[in-house]
Amino acid sequence: MVSVSDTGVGLPDQQADQIFNPFFTTKAHGTGMGLRISRSIVESHRGRLWATDNSPRGASFCFTLPTKAEGNE
Ligand SMILES: Nc1ncnc2c1ncn2[C@@H]1O[C@H](COP(=O)(O)OP(=O)(O)OP(=O)(O)O)[C@@H](O)[C@H]1O
Ligand SMILES: [Mg+2]
Repeated sequence: MVSVSDTGVGLPDQQADQIFNPFFTTKAHGTGMGLRISRSIVESHRGRLWATDNSPRGASFCFTLPTKAEGNE
């Protein structure tokens, strides 16, 4: 598992479950595709990608990838 945390604004209130939806963005000129594509790439390698809001600020993004041994099962 890889986890990356920042000290930014944190996930959007009431919409934390939507940030992975295609075209969802809180930016004026965002495409809203970055996280959707990232999740697609990770899942195509049989991993998972998710985000959590951190208190008092910031967010963490985590992904897993299977080990080679698991991939050969
Ligand atoms: N590190 C972060 N901290 C807080 N919110 C985030 C973070 N990364 C993404 N988000 C939220 O998820 C939304 C979707 O992110 P995504 O990367 O898919 O598109 P975007 O960043 O809005 O647009 P683009 O990638 O085209 O600049 C963002 O608009 C923002 O609301
Ligand atoms: Mg982005």
